[in-house]
Amino acid sequence: MKALVYSGPGRKDWRDVADPAVQEPTDAVVRVDTTTICGTDLHILHGDVPAVTEGRILGHEAVGTVTAVGDGVKAFAVGDRVLVPAITKCGRCAYCQRGMPSHCQTVGGIGWIFGHLIDGTQAESVRVPYADTSLYQVPENVTNEQAIFLADSLPTGYEVGVLAGQVRPGDTVAVVGAGAVGLSAIQTTGLWGASKVIAIDTNKFRLGTALEFGATDIVEGGPGTREKVLEMTDGQGVDVAIEAVGFPETLQTTASLVRPGGHIANIGVHGVPVELPLQEMWIQNVTLTMGLVDTVSIPILLKMVASGRIPSEKMGTHRFTFAQINEAYDVFGNAAANEALKVIITPQ
Ligand SMILES: NC(=O)c1ccc[n+]([C@@H]2O[C@H](COP(=O)([O-])OP(=O)(O)OC[C@H]3O[C@@H](n4cnc5c(N)ncnc54)[C@H](O)[C@@H]3O)[C@@H](O)[C@H]2O)c1
Ligand SMILES: [Zn+2]
Ligand SMILES: [Zn+2]
Repeated sequence: MKALVYSGPGRKDWRDVADPAVQEPTDAVVRVDTTTICGTDLHILHGDVPAVTEGRILGHEAVGTVTAVGDGVKAFAVGDRVLVPAITKCGRCAYCQRGMPSHCQTVGGIGWIFGHLIDGTQAESVRVPYADTSLYQVPENVTNEQAIFLADSLPTGYEVGVLAGQVRPGDTVAVVGAGAVGLSAIQTTGLWGASKVIAIDTNKFRLGTALEFGATDIVEGGPGTREKVLEMTDGQGVDVAIEAVGFPETLQTTASLVRPGGHIANIGVHGVPVELPLQEMWIQNVTLTMGLVDTVSIPILLKMVASGRIPSEKMGTHRFTFAQINEAYDVFGNAAANEALKVIITPQ
C-alpha cells in the first residue's frame, strides 16, 4: 500500500510500504476511507516530537472500513464502517478503568499511539490495536466527513475545554484561539447553555467563522483584549476562559479574563514554560485545568451529530486525494492564510 512516511524533520514521502496485518488477536485492520491532518502532525514535521522516529507513518485520525480482525475481536467484523480515534484504549489498565485512556498504560504508556509510537492513519490502511475498546461504529446517517472530526479536534474542544472548564447554563465563556480546536469548544459550549460565548483571535477570517460556529461576540486579540472582555461582562470577567492556541501570552491573556471563582481551561500544547501571576490569582479562587484529550466523549458526540445538533461537517473546508496529500499539508500548514479549518483527505 501507499502511506505518508516521516523521514526526519521537514521531510515526508507518500510512498510504498508493507501492508499492515493483524499481529495480535485484539487487532483489526481498517482501510482508510477518510483522514485529515492535525496541528500535532505539523509539530512532528518540525521535529518537535522526538518519540516519532524516521520511517513512521503519520496521522491519528481516520474513518474507514474494517478489512480484517484478530480472533479476539468480538465487537467488529469485516465490512464495518468505523471511526479510528486519536486515543487507543486497552480498557483494562488503571487509567482506562478510571475513564482516562489518554494515559492507557498498555501500549507505550500513553493513549496517543497512531503516527506517534506505531504507524498511523495517513495511509491506505492501518492496524488498530485493542479494536474492541478503541473503535466506534459510525451511525448510518453520519457521513465519513462528519465523523472524521470526532477523532480528535471535536472531543478535544469539548473535553479539555468545555467539560474541564465546567461550563454551566447561563455562563459567559471566552475562547482564545478560533482554530479547529477553539471552534470545537465554541460549537459544543452551546450544549451546556452558555449565555455568551466570546471568541478571541488575531485572524479576521477565524473570527467570522467563530460567529458561524456559535460565538455570540468576537474580539480581535491584542493589547486591549482584557478590557474589551470586561466591558462585555459588566466588569466582572467570564465564568469560563478556554485557551486554544498554545503560547505563553495567550494563556496569560486567558487567565486574565476570568471572574473570581471562575475556571481557566488550557487546551493548548505548550512548548516553553509559562509564567502566571499567582500572586494575583491565588485570592481569586480560580481553577486552572489542562490535559491530553481522552476521546471518551465520542459516543455522545456521535449521537449529537447524528441528531443534527452538532453540524461537525462545517469544519472541513478543503478536500484532497491521497495523491495530493503534500498539497493538503501545504494548505493546512498555512491554514489561516488559506481560509482553511480542517482538510478532508480521501483515496480518490
Ligand atoms: N490538549 C490536547 O489534547 C490537544 C489536542 C489537540 C490539539 N491541542 C492544541 O490545541 C491548540 C489549538 O489547536 P488548533 O488545531 O485549533 O490550532 P490552530 O493553529 O488551527 O488555531 C490556533 C488559532 O489561534 C489563533 N491565534 C494565534 N495567535 C493568537 C493570539 N496571540 N491571540 C489570539 N489568537 C491567536 C490563530 O489565528 C488560530 O486561529 C494547539 O496548541 C494544539 O496543539 C491540544
Ligand atoms: Zn491531533
Ligand atoms: Zn488502558
